[in-house]
Amino acid sequence: MKRTLITSALPYANGYLHLGHCAGAYLPADIYARFKRLKGEEVLYVCGSDEHGVAITIAAEKEGVSPQEIIDKYHFANKEAFDKFGMSFDIYSRTSIPLHHNTAREFFRDFKEKGYLIDMEEEQFYDNDAGMFLPDRYVEGICPNCGNEHARGDQCDSCGAYYNQLELKNPVSLVSGKTPVVRRTVHWYMRFDKFQTFLENYIESHSKDWKDNVLQQSRSWLKQGLAERAITRDLTWGVKIDDLPDVPPEKAKGKVLYVWFEAVLGYISATKELMGILNKEGKAGADDWQKWWKDEETRYIAFIGKDNIVFHTLIFPAILHGRGGNYILPDNVPANEFLNLEGQKFSKSRNWSIDLRDFINNFPEPSGVDALRYTLAMNLPETKDSDFTWKDFQARNNNELSAIFGNFVNRTLQFALKNFEGIPELPDKYKWLNLYWKNLIHYFDSDHQTEHELVANVPEELRKLLNDNDVNLIYALWNNSSEAANLYERFRFRDGVSETMNIARAANKYFNDEQPWSVIKNEPDEAAKTIYICCQLVRSLAQLFAPLIPYTSKRIFEILNLKPITGESTKGVIKYPDYWKDAVIPVEIAGKKFGSPEILFPKIEDDVVNAQTSKLGLMLETKENENMVPLITIDDFTKIQLRTAKILKAEKVPKSKKLLRLQVDTGIDQRQIIAGIAEHYEPDYLIGKTVIIVANLQPAKLMGEESNGMMLAASDSTGKLRFLTTEIDDLSAGSNIK
Ligand code: 2FM
Ligand code: ZN
Repeated sequence: MKRTLITSALPYANGYLHLGHCAGAYLPADIYARFKRLKGEEVLYVCGSDEHGVAITIAAEKEGVSPQEIIDKYHFANKEAFDKFGMSFDIYSRTSIPLHHNTAREFFRDFKEKGYLIDMEEEQFYDNDAGMFLPDRYVEGICPNCGNEHARGDQCDSCGAYYNQLELKNPVSLVSGKTPVVRRTVHWYMRFDKFQTFLENYIESHSKDWKDNVLQQSRSWLKQGLAERAITRDLTWGVKIDDLPDVPPEKAKGKVLYVWFEAVLGYISATKELMGILNKEGKAGADDWQKWWKDEETRYIAFIGKDNIVFHTLIFPAILHGRGGNYILPDNVPANEFLNLEGQKFSKSRNWSIDLRDFINNFPEPSGVDALRYTLAMNLPETKDSDFTWKDFQARNNNELSAIFGNFVNRTLQFALKNFEGIPELPDKYKWLNLYWKNLIHYFDSDHQTEHELVANVPEELRKLLNDNDVNLIYALWNNSSEAANLYERFRFRDGVSETMNIARAANKYFNDEQPWSVIKNEPDEAAKTIYICCQLVRSLAQLFAPLIPYTSKRIFEILNLKPITGESTKGVIKYPDYWKDAVIPVEIAGKKFGSPEILFPKIEDDVVNAQTSKLGLMLETKENENMVPLITIDDFTKIQLRTAKILKAEKVPKSKKLLRLQVDTGIDQRQIIAGIAEHYEPDYLIGKTVIIVANLQPAKLMGEESNGMMLAASDSTGKLRFLTTEIDDLSAGSNIK
């Protein structure tokens, strides 16, 4: 393959990015893009904001501004945060640009012409007050399957069931709070069923090289059989189609393309946008986007999180294939699982989250950003969900980046500066050291023996200048860097990073074993050789660590007065030499002067991380106040009958993780209430407690159990649910709350 096209899922411009996003689809892609560029390959790395869909309109309503204001605010904020995080996108575009709308409309028109689209009338909830059809996320009701009262329009979070929104019981519009009516509406449906066999073959052709989770999800969808899916929505915000020549305007009025249909095409639009810009600068042809999307010599890798799998393994490939004209398909879709935070899911509403821009504000130094990149890289959720903790961040910084990598660079450069005023000149005896080093690499490259044999059988001739420690170190450099490359090629970034850190470990061991501080007293030439080799290693490490910690890598190159090569954006038009391979070959640096070295990774103290940890879960009240629901009158309030009730009995609801069955005494009756607190309280603890309930709630069924009322609870700063109680312990059951 000649070139690699890399995309990361386009994040919705409806909120600030958090560290979970970074670990999912962005950092691994950036490591990969930088690594591939350093390998001397032609790379294009494309991303941008996803600016349509209900996610945006909901955010706009929540913040009380227009969708345009929302996307502008978050697009630029996220772009800036990505930039500071060291993301090396060749372009960070956005789907609201006309070029993208036109690209998406072209696909729609083409599919219509080819007969892949059919229009069908269907029934949907309509909000008379708001004058709009209700997309699934705008309607809530009782789950037809389990009775959960807050089930979403198309899916129940409690039992996981999927259904048509019309099946919801007691539906409520989240726009007006009223009961919606049912109306008929027309939508265009894509005949995905026509792509079933094609997609089955495509997925199975990757049965050996794709991740299990990606194959499994894709196969399970195919097993159910692909059906036609609506690719339009009744919304005002998005890619409009009512002015297309062959579309009846009255039929298409008030409709936009379904966000998933057009967002994936954003990758293509972004490529077109970049080539257009480069074309104006005389650096590319305007049609060059085609070589990235339509040439079989291009290998396309789509980085995503696990919630985006089928859109990239089935829907997008069907769209690309359906369009014809040699569009290439993803060659791999290395989807990551999710990152948790201190053992819990990221949740902005519970303030259990770390926004990327907040992190950067708190740790603005390049070392802080690189420490974050390294920590996330070592914890990528590659095969299962993983966890970010502040303690781990501190330990990775202090015990690895600082104590191993930083320490080696620092002790080498300090020693060199103090004793040789820079990188040592090679003494006569070692004049040909670079040549011997290169020959040793050549020997490693050409001989296919086991690790042990390879080191044991180093030709005698080479040993004349290179002692055991030298050979072992150069072997570690050669072996671990090629291992890291193999791992990166297979999207195993965590292990690749460990291999790279092992080179720094080997370098420290070399420094210790060679003891230059003592050897220099009697054998200054030997010490010069050792420090010369260490300086070469500093430069090698700067190169090999560049995809992981680009800021620090650049800094080391600058200290050494070398041109920084960190795999930055090449806009797809410049091709590097193979810097990765060259990283193990010594360069001409003898006698070079350099600037004063600095501490690359200052230690992070306990109080710094403790302060960050204690922020989690706080400010909940303020946040919730900001999202206040409309004010109500005292009459509204008196409709709700709040009472104290005493818990008489508590037990788990069989087969439910969340629900407890409570028998309570309300002072007027004894009744059963089903409460979603099983993950927070042992049943026995609750018996005898006086709690507050909503006494006049309509009865409902939860997991088949009747519930007559609701027990009030609130989340504490750690996310644990606490039932609400009264100040007076012996307040009898049945007191009215006013
Ligand atoms: O899940 C998300 O954040 C989507 N905005 C991802 C879209 S990926 C692609 F379609 F652009
Ligand atoms: Zn349910």
